[in-house]
Amino acid sequence: MNNPIALFQKWFDEESALSEVNIPTAVCLSTLGFDGFPNARFVSLKEIRNDSFVVTGPLQSRKGIEIEADNKVALTFWWTGTGRQVRIQGEANKIPESLATVYFNARNEHSKAVSVISEQGKVTNNIIALEQEILDKVAENQPIPKPKSWGGFAIKPLRIEFMEFKETRFHDRKCFLIENGKWVIHQLQP
Ligand SMILES: Cc1cc2nc3c(=O)[nH]c(=O)nc-3n(C[C@H](O)[C@H](O)[C@H](O)COP(=O)(O)O)c2cc1C
Repeated sequence: MNNPIALFQKWFDEESALSEVNIPTAVCLSTLGFDGFPNARFVSLKEIRNDSFVVTGPLQSRKGIEIEADNKVALTFWWTGTGRQVRIQGEANKIPESLATVYFNARNEHSKAVSVISEQGKVTNNIIALEQEILDKVAENQPIPKPKSWGGFAIKPLRIEFMEFKETRFHDRKCFLIENGKWVIHQLQP
């Protein structure tokens, strides 16, 4: 298969059929930290849209601020059902408000309340009061609209490596690179 997006979808579907983990869409998102350290955390892949990988969350979070400053990111999947790893490097661009609203509205009410009330990553000196505020918001039983500061990024891949783990350690590694606007495949040594 010489289209890496189609190959990703095939691997993702095969993993989803086998996977017993709670969130098979979990992916490690790495950003370039201001202190020079790579900064990595798991997020969940929402979908592939126009050949880009979409992730969502608060834009004022550390990841949001880092992407705003430099949009080079990496996504790393490790799929235990199929024993496969996918590494993606690409450029993240903010998704339009209208699309962010669609993803936000798909969240359950508690998740929406968390997104509205919690300032992700900020220090709190009263976690109990914060949680109560969230429960009170849910109890109001009113529609919770997307806050302006919540959104997402579409990550356009420039390099994708597919690795099939082998017990022998002679792993199969295929690397897709964009060269002159086209995907080129290289087989890498394990
Ligand atoms: C399986 C899993 C899925 C997650 N999904 C998301 C997500 O989609 N969006 C998000 O903002 N945080 C998600 N988180 C929380 C992040 O790992 C992280 O704590 C949060 O985004 C703050 O990161 P930051 O301070 O570097 O911005 C998820 C965590 C786990 C373990």
